[in-house]
Amino acid sequence: MKISVYIATSLDGFIARKNGDLDWLPGSDGQGDHSEDYGYAKFIETIDMLVMGRNTFEKVLLFGQWPYGDRRCVVLTSRDLTIPENMAAHALARNAQPKELISELEEMGVQRVWLDGGKTIQHFLREGWVDELIITRVPVLIGNGIPLFGHTLNDINLQHIETVSFESGFVQSRYAFVRKPEVN
Ligand SMILES: NC(=O)c1ccc[n+]([C@@H]2O[C@H](COP(=O)([O-])OP(=O)(O)OC[C@H]3O[C@@H](n4cnc5c(N)ncnc54)[C@H](OP(=O)(O)O)[C@@H]3O)[C@@H](O)[C@H]2O)c1
Repeated sequence: MKISVYIATSLDGFIARKNGDLDWLPGSDGQGDHSEDYGYAKFIETIDMLVMGRNTFEKVLLFGQWPYGDRRCVVLTSRDLTIPENMAAHALARNAQPKELISELEEMGVQRVWLDGGKTIQHFLREGWVDELIITRVPVLIGNGIPLFGHTLNDINLQHIETVSFESGFVQSRYAFVRKPEVN
């Protein structure tokens, strides 16, 4: 199973403002020019399961409809979660540690996971479960917000695979992780 992060950040490393706003991220409101998708369509085509933190899922709920086609999603939360009827077939809530969740997904035959949400990504990174990071940096400094990265127990070594730049000024880098523990 391969676990990928595909996420946009401000140049100073934030994925949202403190209050969760994405107004600094062009296109996040569904408006504007969609001729460039920054590899999204190609990426999501490879994904058979999303795993996201509750805070990110609460943002997805604001879309009003399921934005990921027929793909399912595990929502990590330690609290009760009400999933609206029109999304109930796609999303299931879990209160699980990364290792436990990964074993469960492997048993379900999941092969490609999109991992999303700042705290959630940090947790999986700390425990060495992320295989690939695709980060699209937006040329804006927002000064404060929800960070993509945080505290780590040890240095985490990455291998740079490629970086591409777009006319919009977005710069996308792909990294692979150098090591990963085995699931017992
Ligand atoms: N720029 C982008 O591309 C992008 C992408 C994704 C998200 N975002 C933004 O990022 C913000 C959300 O990120 P975030 O860092 O606040 O949080 P997050 O990772 O989406 O959610 C964190 C929450 O998920 C739950 N959780 C995570 N791991 C868990 C585990 N192993 N077991 C049980 N519960 C677990 C906890 O909720 P409880 O303990 O409270 O249940 C935790 O507080 C939103 O504003 C969203 O719009 C931006």
